[in-house]
Amino acid sequence: MYSEKVIDHFQNPRNVGKIENPSGVGTVGNAKCGDIMRIYLDIDENQIIRDCKFKTFGCGAAIATSSMATELVKGKNIQEALQVTNKAVMEALDGLPPVKVHCSLLAEEAIHAALWDYAEKHGIKIEGLEKPKSDIHEGEEEEEEDY
Ligand code: FES
Repeated sequence: MYSEKVIDHFQNPRNVGKIENPSGVGTVGNAKCGDIMRIYLDIDENQIIRDCKFKTFGCGAAIATSSMATELVKGKNIQEALQVTNKAVMEALDGLPPVKVHCSLLAEEAIHAALWDYAEKHGIKIEGLEKPKSDIHEGEEEEEEDY
């Protein structure tokens, strides 16, 4: 049912954790399953993503997609990072079963929410980036260590 890459990224997720003083952080949830994903970005002065970490309280596909998404955005500039869509993440994982496609949306949304946070903090506008619908960062901070 799952590709070897999905199983690998689920069992050995890359970039798990948190970045202290991140340039941007985005937390999104899936209302249907209740799964939550948070992505931290460290972006340098040339708008290159130096580092990216995640915490995901969610299913195996959500963990595998967040792991792959962090790998894909590292080293990219913010415009390139916007191209890391759920489709791109799924392709990099050699696909997901149809019932799990929605899980990969969390990674894309979390990256966008983190980029939005970065843009707001720096007073810039990122072309092509929309305000995240489901950023649940506000008020979640104190529960951070729970997942
Ligand atoms: Fe919720 Fe996969 S079932 S993200």
